[in-house]
Amino acid sequence: MRSVFFAAVAIARLAAAAPTPQQFDFAAVLDAPSPSATGPPLTVVANATSTFSVDTASIAASVSAEVTTVATASITGASASAASTQEPSSTGLAKRGPLSSSPTVASTKSTVSPQSGTSTTSSQTACPTTPEAGTYCGFINPEDPCAPQPDGDGPRVTPDTVAAFEAYPAFHADALKAITPAGYVETFKDLNGSTSANSYITFKTLTSYSVSDCANLCDTTTLCTAFNIYIERDPSLNPTLNDTAANTTGQYCPNPSSITNYKCSLWGSSIDATSATNYGDYREQFQVVIVASNGYDKTNNTTPPTCPGYEQPSNCTGAISSGGSYCLGSRFFPGPYNPSVCGIYADAQTATNKAAAKDRGVSSYVPSNMFNAYMVKKNSVAQGTYCSLFNTVLSDSWASFEGGWSGQNYFGVESSWTYALSVQDDGKL
Ligand SMILES: *[C@@H]1O[C@H](CO)[C@@H](O)[C@H](O)[C@H]1NC(C)=O
Ligand SMILES: *[C@@H]1O[C@H](CO)[C@@H](O)[C@H](O)[C@H]1NC(C)=O
Ligand SMILES: *[C@@H]1O[C@H](CO)[C@@H](O)[C@H](O)[C@H]1NC(C)=O
Ligand SMILES: *[C@@H]1O[C@H](CO)[C@@H](O)[C@H](O)[C@H]1NC(C)=O
Ligand SMILES: *[C@@H]1O[C@H](CO)[C@@H](O)[C@H](O)[C@H]1NC(C)=O
Ligand SMILES: *[C@@H]1O[C@H](CO)[C@@H](O)[C@H](O)[C@H]1NC(C)=O
Repeated sequence: MRSVFFAAVAIARLAAAAPTPQQFDFAAVLDAPSPSATGPPLTVVANATSTFSVDTASIAASVSAEVTTVATASITGASASAASTQEPSSTGLAKRGPLSSSPTVASTKSTVSPQSGTSTTSSQTACPTTPEAGTYCGFINPEDPCAPQPDGDGPRVTPDTVAAFEAYPAFHADALKAITPAGYVETFKDLNGSTSANSYITFKTLTSYSVSDCANLCDTTTLCTAFNIYIERDPSLNPTLNDTAANTTGQYCPNPSSITNYKCSLWGSSIDATSATNYGDYREQFQVVIVASNGYDKTNNTTPPTCPGYEQPSNCTGAISSGGSYCLGSRFFPGPYNPSVCGIYADAQTATNKAAAKDRGVSSYVPSNMFNAYMVKKNSVAQGTYCSLFNTVLSDSWASFEGGWSGQNYFGVESSWTYALSVQDDGKL
């Protein structure tokens, strides 16, 4: 099945197409394309503070359009719904327990100015009005050749070299003396790489190495359960070669002086040192480097949001991979952990089944009455949300799959929660 991109979420494939839907489908994860962004951009910072929001309407439209095939389970109808809760043993049938902001403003302490021939004008003052999208102060586009770059609130390191930046004692002191915010666990400290993974949400440039500001941003951002704060050596101007082919004739600033940015990136999964793999890059001859990278995580303390029409989610040790007789199918969505995507998928599958039953003039259809949503990690790095649909409520004791090997890759399970439909669907027309 072909994958499609929409907004920041890509749908992988219907596991119903796989021979054994009850098994965890490694290929669905391996084959899924990564989201377009897996970390903050190194090149463009002008849009850094635009507020992140989950485009639920767009996701819903795309998922519903994709779910066109009827899905069934091997145990259906009265046998599946006879008990309100199915136990793995099928004997015990105990009921399960209850279940912002505006574009970047130019730094007033910026001292850089455009080099000869820059087509835009420099401003040293804060923006008086709402800036034009994609620019700051409305008229400096940082993507223009040799355009001054926004922010740069950290100290200018002298001498202005990569080695001096990497060794700068104050940066390491910031990382080492940082206080872990309440509710979070520190997962790495003072590394030279920033986090890169599919579970990227958004980022913001800060005015100081403020762990608490970054935590506040995470706490007020949907889906965020971890953050990475770090210091980046960035160019003061957009590095440009005098290159006719790139329409930059007469513009030449391949290795401008550096500025120092404090960056805060937000993640919809836990993060650890394994994913702190972005060591910077070259922009023409300018070397971007990262120092003082710290990670903080509250995934284990976070109950995911409720889904409309569903009871409070129930936390599981692992994923349900053994409920195959009750399973209608599964799908994998690369991106941050987002159970609401599974809810949309479940509702769309039920609607598709119901409509097909009506068309065929039969009196029943297979409903999705519960789903299991979990984050899949590949070799400790977050991949996306895996959703499995069931036609009856299975107890948490089914959720025993905690991970497994596929070739050289270890797939782990994190944040496994089940959601039961508040009013169970009897599948009758
Ligand atoms: C920044 O915003 C502009 C205008 O909204 C958009 O065209 C551009 O793609 C954005 N850049 C990034 C990196 O998001
Ligand atoms: C990052 O730090 C590690 C451990 O100190 C070191 O081995 C590695 O070479 C560094 N990488 C870069 C790109 O600086
Ligand atoms: C350079 O400008 C020409 C004319 O405006 C345009 O057709 C071409 O795509 C541009 N090339 C690049 C690399 O931006
Ligand atoms: C750009 O290159 C041309 C020829 O390649 C040269 O004449 C001109 O001086 C260069 N301009 C700058 C600003 O380096
Ligand atoms: C959910 O269960 C996992 C695994 O047992 C545990 O680590 C985590 O703290 C629990 N989360 C919450 C919010 O209770
Ligand atoms: C979260 O809980 C899991 C399972 O209980 C554990 O392996 C992991 O280390 C915990 N993560 C943090 C950051 O405490």
